[in-house]
Amino acid sequence: MVVHSLYILPLFAFRFLKELDLQESVVKHRGHHWLNCFPKPSTELESLNFACLSGEVNASALEGLVARSPNLKRLRLNRRVPFDVWYRILGRTPKLEDLGTGSFVTGNNPAEYVSLSSALGKCSSLKSLSGFWAVTGFYLRGIFSVCKNLTCLNLSCAPLIQSADLINIIRRCTKLHVLWLLDHIGDEGLKVVGFSCPDLQELRVFRNNADAATLTEEGLVAISSGCRKLQSVLYFCNRMTNAALITIAKNCPQLTSFRLCIVELSSADAMTGQPLDEGFGAIVQSCKGLRRLSMSGLLTDCVFLYIGMYAEKLEMLSVAFVGGSDDGMVYVLNGCKNLKKLEIRDSPFGDTALLAGVDRYEAMRSLWMSSCNITLGGCKTLAASMPGVNVEVISGAGASIDEADEASSNAKKVEKLYLYRTIAGPRGDAPGFVSIL
Ligand SMILES: *[C@@H]1O[C@H](CO)[C@@H](O)[C@H](O)[C@H]1NC(C)=O
Ligand SMILES: *[C@@H]1O[C@H](CO)[C@@H](O)[C@H](O)[C@H]1NC(C)=O
Ligand SMILES: *[C@@H]1O[C@H](CO)[C@@H](O)[C@H](O)[C@H]1NC(C)=O
Ligand SMILES: *[C@@H]1O[C@H](CO)[C@@H](O)[C@H](O)[C@H]1NC(C)=O
Repeated sequence: MVVHSLYILPLFAFRFLKELDLQESVVKHRGHHWLNCFPKPSTELESLNFACLSGEVNASALEGLVARSPNLKRLRLNRRVPFDVWYRILGRTPKLEDLGTGSFVTGNNPAEYVSLSSALGKCSSLKSLSGFWAVTGFYLRGIFSVCKNLTCLNLSCAPLIQSADLINIIRRCTKLHVLWLLDHIGDEGLKVVGFSCPDLQELRVFRNNADAATLTEEGLVAISSGCRKLQSVLYFCNRMTNAALITIAKNCPQLTSFRLCIVELSSADAMTGQPLDEGFGAIVQSCKGLRRLSMSGLLTDCVFLYIGMYAEKLEMLSVAFVGGSDDGMVYVLNGCKNLKKLEIRDSPFGDTALLAGVDRYEAMRSLWMSSCNITLGGCKTLAASMPGVNVEVISGAGASIDEADEASSNAKKVEKLYLYRTIAGPRGDAPGFVSIL
């Protein structure tokens, strides 16, 4: 069960619960602590994830719950669970496969850090580690002993680990399928990933420090040459080249999701100064199963021509600060027969491009356009011809689009458009700055 607001959950819902995954939730205290609401004397719980909660949890309630949940395979704690608490818990979770740690820095008994590896050793089915909230390299020696069996390692919340320590861990994790990291691992670190993790399928590298982004095309090329089974990539970097993208496309034809964010807007090929059209073109041409693509960098209508021509399976496309004319968007709408979601920001596409999709939108889930070149008149025309689609125009909070002079109102630029198919008609809960046409 995935829950977004726990307080509406009646207590009896806990009775046969096997899985509780709190995502983006806020838990409000109403008398008893929710961890005490699971049944006694034992639960069926197999998976509990409250990594996103910001508040402290009742340690004895947590320990009690774990003690009476013999089938627990997945436990993701939040950053407020002290080290000594989660360390003790490990002795009671022999079936644990997926651990999201609590804190490394709060809690008593620093001596116990030394025996973390023996505590983890009791969980011989352990395959996935995450959490590591603000951990430093010193404490990480404790996980060395379990690295060999890990298929998933998530260090995306560990900005303080030095690159050398990251490398030290990763070179021991030779079976990884999934790796989430921050970009301070550097290109050199990614080279180590490339030769240590031949089975890697998913790599996400997020930005650590906005001022000190360190990655280039070299890191991703190294990954692509070592990790030939790669299917999914999210990569923040400083620079990219067409040659690198062409190599990546050739090395990793199994990519189904490719999201590249070059931090500086509209960056050209760092070697030649050309647009990155040919590089992304190579990705859509080689990776026949590509379903999700996010592009950045200097891109012209040409890249959309390639996408429309080759990206037959593409379901989701996100772009920003790209394109030259309406043609770009038209190429995508005329090709890409499987497109479900299209997100466009800060690009020059206007009404002609928008209306070129009239035949398509009903088969799609949604279209988002912000800071483009579309007008209210264009959106009205679209809405009038598509009764099965909600066309929502979002203006700055407080502003309203009804204006006395219809003609000048129609020429007005639309800041944000959100369009989605519906069988229920316009929604009733739209705030004042959303107009449903
Ligand atoms: C924590 O939970 C235990 C039961 O496990 C309970 O006895 C205790 O009162 C709770 N503490 C707080 C501060 O809620
Ligand atoms: C690694 O996995 C094997 C086989 O599943 C198991 O026997 C071994 O105990 C595990 N090692 C550790 C350190 O958990
Ligand atoms: C990695 O950790 C973050 C933060 O807890 C979480 O949101 C994300 O789902 C985790 N991803 C994986 C693959 O474990
Ligand atoms: C926006 O659209 C208008 C026509 O509606 C066109 O004249 C203008 O050049 C477009 N602006 C950009 C930046 O493409």
